[in-house]
Amino acid sequence: MSQERITTLLTEQRSYVPPVHGKSTAWIRSHEEYEAICRKAQEDPDGFWGTRAQQLLHWFRPWNQVLKSDPEAYKYEWFAGGRLNAAFNCIDRHLISGRRNKAALIWQGERESEVRCYTYQMLYTEVCRIASALSSLRVRKGDRVALYMPMIPELIIAMLACARIGAIHTTIFSGYAEGGVRSRIQDSKAKVVITADAAMRAGKPKPLKANLDPILEKCPSVAHVVVVNRANQEVNMDRRRDIWWHDLLDDFTLDADFPCESMDANDTLFLLHTSGSTGKPTGVMHATGGYLTYAAHTTQWVFDMRDDDVYWCTADVGWITGHTYMVYGPLALGATTVMFEGVPNWPKPDRYWSIVEKFRVNILYTAPTVIRSLMRVGEAWTERYDLSSLRILGSVGEPINPEAWMWYRTHIGRDELPVIDTWWQTETGGAMIAALPYATKLKPGSASFPLPGIDAAVVSGDGSEESDEGGHLIIRRPWPGMMQGVYGNPEKYRSYFERFGAYQSGDGARVDEDGYFWILGRIDDSINVSGHRLSTSEIESVLAAHPQVAEAAVVPMPHDLKGESIYAYVTLVDDAPWSEALRKELRDVVRRDIGPLATPEIIQFVGSMPKTCSGKIIRRMLRKVAAGVYEDFGDVTTLAHPEVMDAIIAGCRNLKEGRPER
Ligand code: PRX
Repeated sequence: MSQERITTLLTEQRSYVPPVHGKSTAWIRSHEEYEAICRKAQEDPDGFWGTRAQQLLHWFRPWNQVLKSDPEAYKYEWFAGGRLNAAFNCIDRHLISGRRNKAALIWQGERESEVRCYTYQMLYTEVCRIASALSSLRVRKGDRVALYMPMIPELIIAMLACARIGAIHTTIFSGYAEGGVRSRIQDSKAKVVITADAAMRAGKPKPLKANLDPILEKCPSVAHVVVVNRANQEVNMDRRRDIWWHDLLDDFTLDADFPCESMDANDTLFLLHTSGSTGKPTGVMHATGGYLTYAAHTTQWVFDMRDDDVYWCTADVGWITGHTYMVYGPLALGATTVMFEGVPNWPKPDRYWSIVEKFRVNILYTAPTVIRSLMRVGEAWTERYDLSSLRILGSVGEPINPEAWMWYRTHIGRDELPVIDTWWQTETGGAMIAALPYATKLKPGSASFPLPGIDAAVVSGDGSEESDEGGHLIIRRPWPGMMQGVYGNPEKYRSYFERFGAYQSGDGARVDEDGYFWILGRIDDSINVSGHRLSTSEIESVLAAHPQVAEAAVVPMPHDLKGESIYAYVTLVDDAPWSEALRKELRDVVRRDIGPLATPEIIQFVGSMPKTCSGKIIRRMLRKVAAGVYEDFGDVTTLAHPEVMDAIIAGCRNLKEGRPER
């Protein structure tokens, strides 16, 4: 679509009505129906959530209380006293419901010819085998198992095997480097790590086991490492600690039948670390009953999931989106979920569209950063494929800019499919603010309305309600998908609730005159790079640990493709020269320690930081400069040495124009 047409469409400010075809069989068919459900959920939340939990899951024992609250401690136990098992819900019960031979998981490897498909029966067998194997390594209920793995079926199998045993899985994104992996294993005190020799990236193996080896020397909790052979790479195997996945499985016959542990609804299902506002990652804990209910509930309504749908969430399983919308949500519903090992643009930028055609994908859930990058290469790549199987398009991870929204709808959605923007977070477990495909009139760029039972509001800094001005996005009532706690850090958990007496998301938002929510991005110290949340302080501490660095301040900078990228201001110790070699070294340090995602786009050396008289760096000003705004800094009276800003602005201008900062 031409830029002109996009601009016309956007200035028309049309809203997009839901498609007619498919409406009559949809889970929620109209805005009136949505409103009626919202009213019911508001009047009787226990009745609403209890009914959903009953409809969607199999419980070994019913709960005594839908929600047991201790509001003083912000402690909420969903389905208290109930018992269930997540793996049983995602596999076993489908074996007797007529879905035994249905495809549960279709895996497309990086190479076109590599495809694996697991029916529910096959998934059952594999999960039981690896559960038996983990059990032989003495993994028991409550133990932590870290999964540092590529996007291969073994990752999903390992998650479900942990769930079967009652062990707590903690996945670590395979793109993390040394520091990111180490801090997560150390924090969870994992007993076993499952990894692979390597991950395939653009045709080349990228080592995982070799990355892990030096890290493990600093992780005394790890007794065993199980290694999947993905890429036939040479790896070091420590005979007392390491074992190949295939060797371990060899001991367990195909008819291994590993019984499910009966879990309390409030036993932890998994831990997933997110970048918090401190340098240390936050181990978000999700409980079995509430999380699984919410995953199944939102997958069914937000994607209008039907039994014959082929559903593809393109996120990496290392993030919450992969957990909820590739694994737990769709499998709990007995759906067919697609997993893709590769990237959208290798070897050519047509991988997504060829996969949609190949498996006749009906529901596609991806991220704005992907859409923007595919939009940039032009629609000719999309036109080669038959995308007519698609019924619903989803978006997650960052605000979707209206241009990308329009392109997605026009070229992928043949100008008629609903583009469902879903706002949520690792901590919320599942989508919170999202359109419903057959009920919501869409406004490009808005995530629309809170889902039924979700009491979202936008408030000012003092907690009073705002209307169209924008403010803090909070959730006033508990919901089943909410995190259960922060692993080993109750203070951190409390900090989410203390300011407003309600869950504080850390995002800014605005509600328009029609009640639509517009997410404005993070207002805490996080940066959202290509939909991945990174902590500024984590990057700052890595930079500051370099012997030549005195201080570092990291802020977001707007970026066309990634949404935001990283801008770092660095002061050096006295005699250190500002050199290109050091700049490169600092970028490498971050890349090596946290991972390529966290690499600063720009590092600017500065003589001094803008500080208050009490010595605090004023990041607000640094943020503006990084965004190319060189005036209107608001209240500058707190700035101890105003001349500092002139030098910083001059340096930034020089860098952006390709010259050294001075
Ligand atoms: O800033 C919001 C942004 O991503 C953050 C959550 O990141 P994470 O916990 O990694 O989970 C990502 C997947 C759910 C949020 O605080 N975000 C996520 N979805 C959207 C979004 N921002 C705007 N619109 C969205 N749809």
